[in-house]
Amino acid sequence: MKKAFLVLLGILVCLSLGLTACSKPEPNNEEITGETSEPPKMKLVAVGEATFAPFEYMDITTNKPTGFDVDLIKAIGEASGFDVEYKNIDWNSLIPALQNKEADLIVSGMTVTDERALEVTFSDPYFTSGQAWAVPKNSPIKQLSDLSGKSIAVQINTTADYAAQTLHEKFTGENQKGINIKRLKNAADVFNELKTGAVDAIICDLPVIQEYLKNNPEDEILIPEPAFTVEYYGIAMRKADKEIHDLVNKGLAKIKADGTYDEIYEKYFGKQP
Ligand code: ARG
Repeated sequence: MKKAFLVLLGILVCLSLGLTACSKPEPNNEEITGETSEPPKMKLVAVGEATFAPFEYMDITTNKPTGFDVDLIKAIGEASGFDVEYKNIDWNSLIPALQNKEADLIVSGMTVTDERALEVTFSDPYFTSGQAWAVPKNSPIKQLSDLSGKSIAVQINTTADYAAQTLHEKFTGENQKGINIKRLKNAADVFNELKTGAVDAIICDLPVIQEYLKNNPEDEILIPEPAFTVEYYGIAMRKADKEIHDLVNKGLAKIKADGTYDEIYEKYFGKQP
């Protein structure tokens, strides 16, 4: 009996010691150094479809997404005091990822459109772009109107896709042959279709076609005409995230004013004209 009592007492002593150890506050930096430690930075997840050089593409040595958009959003984060993790996901998953909170920002050469603006809030525009078309050098197709009756590859649900559909409707409305539009999952597939001769032409954002030509001169591809649309890229965010809208727009304005934007621009496009 006495033994049992001692064991019980022992257990109680241990428990109470354990509890006091737990509840005892750990000394923090402040107490040790006397300095106030910085509050941890907010981290935002940015997403893009990384087959869209020079805006977002996979660095083959690190296997990480890189490019103009990646540098841009990191610089905006630095200017506005947040950290950025950039992830490569499918184009069609970008807006859903924002809505189910897997991501906070879409930075993916995404054109500001009225339809998209019903679902997301766009930042102030950060890049002026437009749609252009390309063909093999020896192609008989010389102007936009020659595309009637031809096959064209585009990335699905992009402004290239919408431009191809508009062109198709224009042709059929004028009693000409329409376009056979091949709607592909990513931008890399689009260039591949042209390279392998599976389509007559492609439509894509002009700076992206130009970058492809620069990196693949042996493909013998030509951009016969200037861009036929004017578009602006914006960073897409959840409508409710007013604080983030503010941080992004202020950060963008700041890096435009202090020369950081120009540095990033020159890194990917050379000196501004
Ligand atoms: N600017 C076009 C659009 O918004 C194409 C963007 C495609 N971006 C990408 N990373 N694949 O529809």
